[in-house]
Amino acid sequence: MDLRSAIMERTSRRKYEDIPVDDAIIEQLEAAVWECNRSADLNIKLKIGDGEPFTAGKSYGMFSGVQNYFAMIRKKDDPVGDEKIGYYGESLVLLLTRLGLGSCWVGGTYDKDACHVEVADDEEFRCAIVFGHVKTKESMKERAIKKPLKRKSKEIKDMLTAYADVPNWVVDGVRYAVKAPSAQNRQPVRFLCDGETVSAKVKGEHNYDMVDLGIAKLHFEVGAGGGTWEFGNGGLFTKAE
Ligand SMILES: Cc1cc2nc3c(=O)[nH]c(=O)nc-3n(C[C@H](O)[C@H](O)[C@H](O)COP(=O)(O)O)c2cc1C
Repeated sequence: MDLRSAIMERTSRRKYEDIPVDDAIIEQLEAAVWECNRSADLNIKLKIGDGEPFTAGKSYGMFSGVQNYFAMIRKKDDPVGDEKIGYYGESLVLLLTRLGLGSCWVGGTYDKDACHVEVADDEEFRCAIVFGHVKTKESMKERAIKKPLKRKSKEIKDMLTAYADVPNWVVDGVRYAVKAPSAQNRQPVRFLCDGETVSAKVKGEHNYDMVDLGIAKLHFEVGAGGGTWEFGNGGLFTKAE
């Protein structure tokens, strides 16, 4: 499965099967985490067989059967730390999708204090990404949780402001950004295209806006056929030649 297909197939999953993740997959995930931490100066940690913070009682009934998660940890003084959490965390989510595993970002509905994760004084544990084996078909409860969230999902025109003719690759980028997960499905990111440049911005009113920005930027990059983003609110995209 390529990255574009992974974006189109991914959906948040909240009910996990009692099946351990293979050692070979864990090795791949460890390597991916190491690479994210090295590239972005993050301190993401992989936790296997530790689902206590996400039990029904501690997740307001949102999750069941969770055994594994990534603890998404950033440096407190990194001005674009949240955005990196989003961008690199979503690269892990898409890897999980390609490996046939389900996942879900978790910012609120878990017990952070029950996480057995060491966090240094100069670091912040921002959120988690749970993952594991899931049934192909979503359970009734999973669908019921999604229904109110998905009702307000945005379209390309809602996320793109254009002041000139828009090249096809920009529309393709936004087509994939529309599929990006976001806290409470708020989809707060807006892409701006003036004919020469593309930028991405959030109002920054909500706790996870900058994380959502990083996630949407990665989706745009994949949809646009490759390129590089400047980190930062309003950062510019350079398309690959
Ligand atoms: C930063 C962030 C935090 C999230 N926090 C939670 C959470 O605490 N609990 C939860 O059930 N889902 C959480 N989600 C998942 C969103 O609700 C979900 O991505 C959104 O509704 C869109 O649905 P989809 O991922 O199936 O496309 C979070 C997503 C993001 C990106």
